[in-house]
This record gives sequence, structure tokens and C-alpha cells, in this order.
Amino acid sequence: MVNVSNELDGQVAIVTGGARGIGAEIIRELSNKGAIVVTLDLDQMQIDESLKSIKGECMGIAVDITKPLKVKEAVDAVLAKFGRIDILVNNAGITKDALFHKMTFEEWSQVIDVNLSGVFHVTQLVQAAMVKGEYGRIVFISSRSSLGKRGQANYAASKAALLGLAKTLAIELGQFGITVNAIAPGFIETDMTRSITEKTGQDWAVLASTMSDQTAVKRIGNPSDIANAVAFFCNPKSSFVTGQTLYVTGSPNV
Ligand code: NAI
Repeated sequence: MVNVSNELDGQVAIVTGGARGIGAEIIRELSNKGAIVVTLDLDQMQIDESLKSIKGECMGIAVDITKPLKVKEAVDAVLAKFGRIDILVNNAGITKDALFHKMTFEEWSQVIDVNLSGVFHVTQLVQAAMVKGEYGRIVFISSRSSLGKRGQANYAASKAALLGLAKTLAIELGQFGITVNAIAPGFIETDMTRSITEKTGQDWAVLASTMSDQTAVKRIGNPSDIANAVAFFCNPKSSFVTGQTLYVTGSPNV
């Protein structure tokens, strides 16, 4: 049988937050398309568990993306081993929800540190390698919450900032063959969304059903819905698509 899914053969992809959830599915999707996948995440045991399902070449590095020196060590290790980086998916992210009038500065800055400054640290190092190779695909995982969501002032601000960052980097890096795009997922079933039920005491089935009803397609999203959109932006053929935000929400009304 002809292998039709080898469009990323030999390419090296870094995905942050690939130990579980959406990131784990993104590394599987990129690996299935032929890429060598590297994930940067917090816990080595969780990383190793996630990488067990990867059939192709892969690497996992335990690193907190808010620590610039550790991020540099990790990116240097990838370059030392593989010599190039073709794809970067900035997926790692956290929530610390609270109504704004009750939000502590700590809750604010923890979310900005991971979701925005962490992206800065990783992207600045990786884009330098991509510029040298005159090729790159950078994808930011933003959120539908970037449009505003009650209780998520910190998260919405961080995710909206990524959209401006994507457009700006698209302008600055386009001349080097690098595209920069963003995906804004809707409600996707992962530990992040399941943890809502732990905080609110709400039943998961009730929450999932409520969120499904709010979509046009009458279901909540899966990590593979997002991984599929990531693969589109990472395809070498998507070279004329840059600075865009794709809402993957199961609805036209974002
Ligand atoms: P998750 O909580 O299941 O997984 C996030 C991963 O990021 C974890 O493996 C975690 O260890 C890692 N991570 C967190 N902080 C890190 C740090 N400082 N350094 C390195 N790794 C770190 O979350 P999920 O749902 O898979 O979300 C992935 C991305 O998608 C996040 O950016 C999230 O904001 C975004 N998103 C998720 C939605 C959802 O409904 N699940 C909706 C919209 C956006």
C-alpha cells in the first residue's frame, strides 16, 4: 500500500506540553505524518508514558518553559541531536480561573508566565534555528476564550496576546520561509476541561452535554480535532497561509 501520510518525512517538530491532552495527540499526528517529534513538558515520567504510543523517532525533555536557561538547554539538545527544527507547536498552557475582582496577581502572572512568556522563550530560540534553515512552521494554540470569557481574564488576555504575536511574527519571519499561525480551540475533552468538574462539583456528563448543545455540530471537541488543524498549518504545502487564526470550535459563531 502506498504511504500517503509521509508529508513531514525527516522534519523535526517541537511540541510543548505533549505529555497529555491536546499536545499528546499533536505529537502522534505529526509522527504519523513522518516527523521526528520532540516534546517539552514538566514531568519526565508523564512524557515517557505519552511517547510510548509514538512509533517513529521521538524525544522528550522535562523542562518548565517559564525557565529561559532550561529552555535553551533543551533547544540546544534538540539541535545537537537532529541538527534542525522545522516545526514548533506552542501548545503548553494553564488556567487559573477567577472573576477579575477576586483574581490575585499571582493567578494573573502564573498564567501570563506560562501561556505568553513561556511561548516567548521557546519561540525566540526556535525561530533562530528556522531562519538559518530558511524554513519553518510555527503554530500557537490559543483559545476561543481569547474573545472573552467570564472568570478567565488572565487566560483570555494571554491567549488573545498570542494572536497578535502570531500576526507579527508572520510579518517578520515570512521572508525566511517561515509561516506563523494560531488555532483557537473550543471546548475539548482533556484533563484541563475535566478539572472544571473537580472545582465546581458539576457532573462531567452534564457539563459535556451543555457544551455540546452550544455547538453547531452538537458535540464537544477531541484532541484529534485540534491535531488535524495543526497538521494543516504544518504541511509544507501550506506556505501561503500565514498570520491566520483558525477557530476549531464546532460552530460558525466562534
Ligand atoms: P492539559 O492541561 O491537559 O495539558 C497541558 C500540558 O502542558 C500538560 O502536559 C502540562 O504538564 C504542560 N505544561 C503546563 N505548564 C507547563 C510548563 N510551564 N512547561 C512545560 N509544560 C507545561 O491541557 P490541554 O487541554 O491539552 O490544553 C493544551 C493547550 O490547548 C493549552 O494551551 C490550552 O490552553 C489550550 N486549549 C485547551 C482547550 C480545552 O478545551 N482543553 C480549549 C482551548 C485551548
